[in-house]
Amino acid sequence: MKILLTGAAGQLGRELIPLLGARGQLVVTDRITPNTAGENWVEMDISSGESTEGLLRHFDPDLIVNAAAYTAVDAAEAEPETAFEINAKLPDRMARWAKQHDARLLHYSTDYVFDGKSAEPYRETDAPDPQSVYGQSKLAGELAIKASGCSHAVLRTSWVYSSHGKNFVLSMLDLARKNPALKIVDDQRGCPTWAGNLALASCKVIAKWQQRDFANLKGVFHYCDDRSLSWYEFARLIFGFAVKSGLIESGPDLTAVPSEEFPQAAQRPNWSVLDTHRIGAGFGIKPASFNQSLQVVIDELVKKDRS
Ligand SMILES: NC(=O)c1ccc[n+]([C@@H]2O[C@H](COP(=O)([O-])OP(=O)(O)OC[C@H]3O[C@@H](n4cnc5c(N)ncnc54)[C@H](OP(=O)(O)O)[C@@H]3O)[C@@H](O)[C@H]2O)c1
Repeated sequence: MKILLTGAAGQLGRELIPLLGARGQLVVTDRITPNTAGENWVEMDISSGESTEGLLRHFDPDLIVNAAAYTAVDAAEAEPETAFEINAKLPDRMARWAKQHDARLLHYSTDYVFDGKSAEPYRETDAPDPQSVYGQSKLAGELAIKASGCSHAVLRTSWVYSSHGKNFVLSMLDLARKNPALKIVDDQRGCPTWAGNLALASCKVIAKWQQRDFANLKGVFHYCDDRSLSWYEFARLIFGFAVKSGLIESGPDLTAVPSEEFPQAAQRPNWSVLDTHRIGAGFGIKPASFNQSLQVVIDELVKKDRS
């Protein structure tokens, strides 16, 4: 199987590289080339139709795993065209190519397609109503993939973190090194998800697709780790784990505050909890342990610190 992975330098992309490499002939691409890149790395900006179609024509993959995305939620409010180019037009091009060439597409989307007004975990059948440009652009990508008719899975996930890239865990640890006290939003709730678990879930989807009984299973699926938390609760756990593991000496004093105390360009849903039963019933994928995953990431950071 020939696999093309985009967004390979991102949080999810980096976790996917070793797993996908074991499943077939892999070509990876992003707009930068990290020091660790292998010979199968193609440095390319894929925001234009020409670049994407050139890459697809040249490599002719059986499977496209699209981890490339515009993920700057606040910046998207000021540059909607760029957000839509990467989050909507790019997956549209990929999906139409996949349909024409009998390839599959594995794509990712977000809890931010919902308005956050629910009190129950969101199911795939719940109506989306994104409140931000980022959420709107991701929803447009989902709809374009569906409309193409290609074989696909869109994994919606939430609050992704890892030991690299830009995410809440790294921001909190950075802030804690500079501030004795922090105010953290306590009225937005979601399920923090380790990029490594999303990569593992992706590989399980691919493995099932290779079995005849699951080959036609497609559509939108929710995947997130097993605990719902507010940002404040998440921060408390990050500092608790980090102190216990010796990553920081002590955590800052934390105060829980409402979102109004941190005005941001993009409106975020207050409730982002995703129901994961469909991916469990379809592909046998269960949410991984939040506690174990946060510990894995803290351990990776301790190792980085000591090297
Ligand atoms: N991060 C989250 O909290 C979160 C939550 C829910 C859903 N998701 C979804 O999960 C998926 C993976 O997210 P992630 O956190 O791994 O994202 P990420 O770390 O931002 O990675 C995305 C990668 O795509 C690259 N990219 C963007 N525009 C490109 C272009 N024009 N040409 C080539 N590469 C380009 C980015 O490069 P640059 O860094 O140079 O832009 C980055 O390396 C995305 O679909 C995202 O929408 C993420």
